[in-house]
Amino acid sequence: MSSQNPKNEISRRKFLQNSTLATAGIYLGILGMPKVFGNVLIDKDAKGIQDIKLNNGLKMPMLGFGTYGLSGEVCQKSVVEAISAGYRLIDTAKVYGNGVEVGKAIKQSGIDRKQLFVTSKLWVDDAGYENAKKGFEETLRKLQLDYLDLYLIHRPRGDVKGSWKAMEELYKAGKIKAIGISNFDPAQLADLLSYAQIKPVINQIETHAYFQQANDYKVLKQHNVQMQAWAPFAEGRNGLFTNEVLTQIAKKHGKTTAQVSLRWHYQLGIVAIPRSSQKEHITENLNIFDFKLDDADMKAIEKLDLNKTQFPEWS
Ligand SMILES: NC(=O)c1ccc[n+]([C@@H]2O[C@H](COP(=O)([O-])OP(=O)(O)OC[C@H]3O[C@@H](n4cnc5c(N)ncnc54)[C@H](OP(=O)(O)O)[C@@H]3O)[C@@H](O)[C@H]2O)c1
Repeated sequence: MSSQNPKNEISRRKFLQNSTLATAGIYLGILGMPKVFGNVLIDKDAKGIQDIKLNNGLKMPMLGFGTYGLSGEVCQKSVVEAISAGYRLIDTAKVYGNGVEVGKAIKQSGIDRKQLFVTSKLWVDDAGYENAKKGFEETLRKLQLDYLDLYLIHRPRGDVKGSWKAMEELYKAGKIKAIGISNFDPAQLADLLSYAQIKPVINQIETHAYFQQANDYKVLKQHNVQMQAWAPFAEGRNGLFTNEVLTQIAKKHGKTTAQVSLRWHYQLGIVAIPRSSQKEHITENLNIFDFKLDDADMKAIEKLDLNKTQFPEWS
């Protein structure tokens, strides 16, 4: 993921001046500058999506595009639209069964591969040293790519230790730029850290207004493991898009509840990967960098926490 953008040189310089403070974890309270998540905010691209630096030094956009549930032509079209709208982080997984379409969309977009940040995940059926290596090669082949930016253990099931060893080797061989985990709780993270030679760069977990994961947030920060939010809208479950509190805040800022939700993640330094198959939503979800939630907004959203998953069927 390259962030060179000559047009943006002035804001880049300004940003670098501020980044010393950001590194110290000071929330500057200006538009576009969220609380840092133990990482350094290092750049802005043309659409205003800042990059963060992961704990291995790799740059990753602060907002990405999810592809769960997208398949066939809809998937390909949505990913092309997302890249064209300005998303650079694309999140997929072997189990989504859409690797071929995501790969075709990447080719169709015409964008330089190095400008993209492609994430995929090792499914539980491929857990263990040998299977993980095979699973990874299959994923890469379907995507028609020769490396992944980020590869995650999708769920902490089966031989996690064997999977991690395989991923560490693939990382060292340059086939993956960063390795991480998903759906690990703090105890499972601690277990992984007890034998890992390479620390995970991120943990991708369910995170939205109804399930804010305050403890995981704290633990991940302590370990400098970036928190990434799956289902940042809880897929609209429990009336999230029409929630009264979010609606009021949205009205106040002339925004939508979706944008308020994503801005909330962003201001907490959590990387969100919203999914949409509609062009208007794809664009809408990118337009979160021209307003700021104030303390009262953030506190009101904090109170929406039900502290429980909205996806009990996946637990
Ligand atoms: N690691 C894991 O275990 C895991 C689990 C689940 C998801 N994920 C990842 O996280 C990504 C996001 O999660 P998700 O896809 O489950 O759910 P989500 O992003 O929370 O919600 C997607 C839903 O929200 C709707 N939507 C999107 N933007 C909208 C807007 N501006 N206004 C109104 N509705 C809007 C979409 O409908 P439209 O298509 O009509 O816009 C879709 O139905 C996934 O795609 C996947 O990449 C990872």
